[in-house]
Amino acid sequence: MMRQLVVTVAPHEAELASDALWGLGVVAVEERHVADGIELWTSLGDADSVDLPWPWRFVEVEEAVADTWRQFATPIWVEGDLVVRPAWVPFEAPAGVTVLSIEPGATFGMGDHPTTRLTLAAARDSVTPGCSVLDVGCGSAVLAIGSLLFGAGSAVGIDIAPAAVPVAEANALANGVRVDVSTTPLEELAGEFDLVLANILAPALVALAPHLRRVLAPGGTLVVSGILEYAHAHVLRALEPLQVVRTDTLDGWAAVTLR
Ligand SMILES: C[S@@+](CC[C@H](N)C(=O)[O-])C[C@H]1O[C@@H](n2cnc3c(N)ncnc32)[C@H](O)[C@@H]1O
Repeated sequence: MMRQLVVTVAPHEAELASDALWGLGVVAVEERHVADGIELWTSLGDADSVDLPWPWRFVEVEEAVADTWRQFATPIWVEGDLVVRPAWVPFEAPAGVTVLSIEPGATFGMGDHPTTRLTLAAARDSVTPGCSVLDVGCGSAVLAIGSLLFGAGSAVGIDIAPAAVPVAEANALANGVRVDVSTTPLEELAGEFDLVLANILAPALVALAPHLRRVLAPGGTLVVSGILEYAHAHVLRALEPLQVVRTDTLDGWAAVTLR
């Protein structure tokens, strides 16, 4: 049996609630229309409670039912030569295509969310040979693993969700790289990194801003995502004096590269 989180919302709040669940790191959300609104069904690893402004409950379901979404997962073309493949979906990579194989378990980071795709593409353009990378809110570690495949020399991943640690480590191994993964809070993380990637929601980015700046090596690059295309000026203000060097957008989301 497996535990599912069910959140009940009014139809006009479904998108907002889905975004909030996404911020908690869930991997897939199924919408079910019920008499009193919409139920959002998802899996949240081992968490015992959640902090959400909508009624929620946990429900035990057969594992096969909870995993229905897996049947529909497909490889994601991030760019013309970059694919994130669900580990259980066969994929014949054409020559010259970089393929990341990801088993998300109960974490976020299949590569299908616009913010993951945007951050991965920005990371590829920011990686320099042998550089050090920090993936803040690593989930499946898709961004850290991608950075290593693009030529980074080392990668550290941190996430507040304990489920991310074994999943990220296993994904790194499956892709032939090593990511140092832990639940160390960014506030307590020592060291500096040439490239810092943070795909987490705007309020978390604002709260973490002083530490995102602190762990960035002089002249280093920070890529933030999880922010909305038309509502992220406050995040950039919190990150000053870092300057925007590039903004990429997809489906209403943005990834911003700063130096
Ligand atoms: C949207 S997911 C991103 C996952 C993956 N990096 C990607 O790009 O697909 C956000 C992740 O950030 C984690 N997270 C949220 N707040 C955090 C914080 N303050 N410190 C570290 N991780 C955090 C969540 O647990 C979740 O795994």
